[in-house]
Amino acid sequence: MLQDCPLPEAVRERLPDSLFTRHVYYFPRIGSTNAYARELAKKGGAEGTMVIAEEQTKGQGRMGRQWYSPAYHNLLFSIILRPAFSIDRVFSLTMLTALALVDAINNMTNVKALIKWPNDVYLKNKKMAGILTEFSANKKGVEYVVVGIGLNVNWDVTDKSGLNHLATSLVREIGHPISRIDLLVKILELLERYYWLLLKGQDRFIYKRWNELSMVIGKEVLVNFSNGRKKARVKRIAKNGALVIEDEDGKQSSIICGDLTVVFPSLPGS
Ligand code: BTN
Repeated sequence: MLQDCPLPEAVRERLPDSLFTRHVYYFPRIGSTNAYARELAKKGGAEGTMVIAEEQTKGQGRMGRQWYSPAYHNLLFSIILRPAFSIDRVFSLTMLTALALVDAINNMTNVKALIKWPNDVYLKNKKMAGILTEFSANKKGVEYVVVGIGLNVNWDVTDKSGLNHLATSLVREIGHPISRIDLLVKILELLERYYWLLLKGQDRFIYKRWNELSMVIGKEVLVNFSNGRKKARVKRIAKNGALVIEDEDGKQSSIICGDLTVVFPSLPGS
């Protein structure tokens, strides 16, 4: 659907006054939108600058993973932010981005997407979107943040059999294609609204909604660290984004970095 390409002029026409449509870069093919946005940011790229691509040859995920997405089906974009705050608040940008994604998806469709700590959007226990937040800081605080989003929209995930049981897309869940421009516009509207609220200090709603929309609260999980894994139950997500867990001995602790596997109760007889 060529008419559905998220071209700068199409997005700008729909959101003429948005922070995110002042400087838009669009690439049919690029290494990584995050890498490109980082370079722009280092050279002084303005807050709100958005880099969109149809295909990435080196799409980056968290923890050195790759992000795969077939060309012209999904949403792949990165945004430069320059919030005047300290690095301990950077995670709130991942939180509000996840919230904007989930709210946009749930508004435009009849599905119920959820957030999987720390940076994923899930639907029916399969991953539909990932967020990669990278930043640079100095003594005074954050210099720039690049928030990168990969969202599976119109991709028939079954064509990539290795990902079939792990990943999903909107088309797979709702049964028909959805306009990528409409979805991008909704995400950007929400992202901007939530971002201004965060900057004004009106951010309580982010933490409240994150806990409400989290798919891991109350669940038994395996926390995967670089040097091992640990079984625990998730209590809540703290304001700084840390996951508050309780281990099998009832001891509570917070983790700020890691990956989770949700432990599903085994079926009778299995
Ligand atoms: C993850 O789940 O590990 C995060 C994936 C983030 C992927 C997006 S796609 C657009 C942007 N550019 C990148 O290279 N990565 C992010």
